[in-house]
Amino acid sequence: MFENLKAQPADKILALMQMYKNDPRPSKIDLGVGVYKNPQGLTPVMRAVKAAEQELWKTQDTKTYVGLAGDPGFSDALIDLVLGDAVDRDLVAAAATPGGTGACRQAFELVRMADKDARVFVSDPTWPNHLSILSYLGMQVVNYRYFDDETGGVDFDGMIEDLKSAKSGDVVLLHGCCHNPTGANLNLSEWQAVVDVLRDTGAVPMIDIAYQGFGDGLEEDAAGTRLVASSVPECLIAASCSKNFGIYRERTGLLMAISQDPDARKLNQDTLAFLNRQNFSFPPDHGARVVTMILQDEALRTDWKAELEDVRLTMLDLRQQLADELQKLSGSDRFGFLAQHRGMFSRLGAAPDKVEALRTEHGIYMVGDSRMNIAGLNGETVPILAKAILDVGI
Ligand code: LMR
Repeated sequence: MFENLKAQPADKILALMQMYKNDPRPSKIDLGVGVYKNPQGLTPVMRAVKAAEQELWKTQDTKTYVGLAGDPGFSDALIDLVLGDAVDRDLVAAAATPGGTGACRQAFELVRMADKDARVFVSDPTWPNHLSILSYLGMQVVNYRYFDDETGGVDFDGMIEDLKSAKSGDVVLLHGCCHNPTGANLNLSEWQAVVDVLRDTGAVPMIDIAYQGFGDGLEEDAAGTRLVASSVPECLIAASCSKNFGIYRERTGLLMAISQDPDARKLNQDTLAFLNRQNFSFPPDHGARVVTMILQDEALRTDWKAELEDVRLTMLDLRQQLADELQKLSGSDRFGFLAQHRGMFSRLGAAPDKVEALRTEHGIYMVGDSRMNIAGLNGETVPILAKAILDVGI
């Protein structure tokens, strides 16, 4: 029977990871997959994570099942991190998921269960795996304008105009912060305008927040999400701990579903548990437990925040260095947007053939849409990249 299978398109980001691995050139530079790397090119285990794991190893005396929605302590800790006190905890249903991707998948499935004809509005561009999962689930996708190639910023007027065509029963997928793949983000008054459109149209927001703490700070990066969640009757939030806790392979995420009354919350909660059971049964626990320990312990939390802040500032510094170097070499300000972007990624705005030339001629790997992972750079490679960008004619 399996001869009936059709070959599936390779995931562009993961295929690039493999190409990079196979490239024998010692000077190669990896700006592909969204993984933080320190200036030595390593992705270390964060100090607080190591400490929590050691404690867990000493004290954990069972690995029996927890619950279909995961440990309620994890839900509480992450809801607090993402939402602060913006939303009454009693209105939030939540289930742990395998990473932020798992949370997105479960969110889309929840939407489809509620309304199989729901359309999902996605930014153009968005993380390719959003589109891939939506297509796999057979859900309708509507693009809304988001990125302005000319300025490297958000095409805000286009975005609002397109979102106005959403209706009650539609879902609008938003990136909570550090937009992937562009790095261009909404400011708070723009978030407010999005809230107004959501209210007018009755569309339900779904917020994917995978990079909290990588942009302007933990609180600042959650501000848009909090504003939306506290302003509309229903909201879905897919949160990831992969990046801000550096626990990529532990697959640690949380899906939150906010509603307006306890009955609706209970129905959401039961449905999230049901969906987990159908798809993988119990969610992974190790990463969630480590995150909970860190967030609940004053000393570990403080240390984690300090290390995360170092990571954030390192990336900001690299952005500025790259923008400055390009300014110096090109004599123009046309790359200034790189310093304005936030998070791990920036979209350079280069055509695919230029991206390919960077790879073949200079051993520089970025995603085909010219998304680069700023954390893949260091003080030595910034000038190399800047020169290569101009060499290939970007
Ligand atoms: C990325 O966008 O590079 C990351 O979110 C990793 C992934 O799974 O694609």
